[in-house]
Amino acid sequence: MSDMSLIKYLARLGYGGRREVTALVRARRVTRADGSILRDGDAWTHADVRVDLTRLDPAPGCVLMLHKPIGYVCSTSDVPPLVYELLPERFRARTPIIAPVGRLDRETSGLLLLTDDGRVNHRITSPRTHLPRTYLVTLSDDLRGDEGDVFASGTLQLRSDTSPLAPATLVVLSPREVRLTLTEGRYHQVRRMFAAVGNHVQALHRAAIGALEPADLAAGSWRALTQSERESLGA
Ligand code: URA
Repeated sequence: MSDMSLIKYLARLGYGGRREVTALVRARRVTRADGSILRDGDAWTHADVRVDLTRLDPAPGCVLMLHKPIGYVCSTSDVPPLVYELLPERFRARTPIIAPVGRLDRETSGLLLLTDDGRVNHRITSPRTHLPRTYLVTLSDDLRGDEGDVFASGTLQLRSDTSPLAPATLVVLSPREVRLTLTEGRYHQVRRMFAAVGNHVQALHRAAIGALEPADLAAGSWRALTQSERESLGA
């Protein structure tokens, strides 16, 4: 049970402004799982509340995984389409908003996490966490052979960076396809790493963050993380 008024809570979850949510409650569209009508002032729990007979969106403090398709932008305001168009409209209206954890470029596909918990967001993105991110990379030219050593050296410094990159692990899958695992997330890092060794990234897909893989998610779909998945991220 929460101390917060039901109307305030639903408004914070993006179900509408205070006036719209009040109208929802007055119209008897907010119920318990057993069908009984909820009024503002009644005791309630997140898991028990239904709006139009449907369970509430994920409770505050949620972490979601989205399989981002190519073409979508990780931002609340940019040239559309935005990743928010793949989520229920309410998610952008929540207070606090459900925000991307780091960014993937518009042309990158794959695993994107989102959360409304600033501390969780910080913990996952902090370079101190050393959470590995694994990318599948398709290159426009054949590998020259020394890329794995260059990336593993911990001495590669990209133009306009002030410190060398942390060691990264390269697994060659074919002459133009690799799996690259990083423990930091610098701006356009994968694309800039391959530019630094004279190649060009043709396609980029984030396959995993830590042990988390969106293997069960079709492109464009999302789900909340399970408790054990959250724990695997330290979130
Ligand atoms: N590195 C990039 O260059 N782009 C991404 O989207 C992610 C990592």
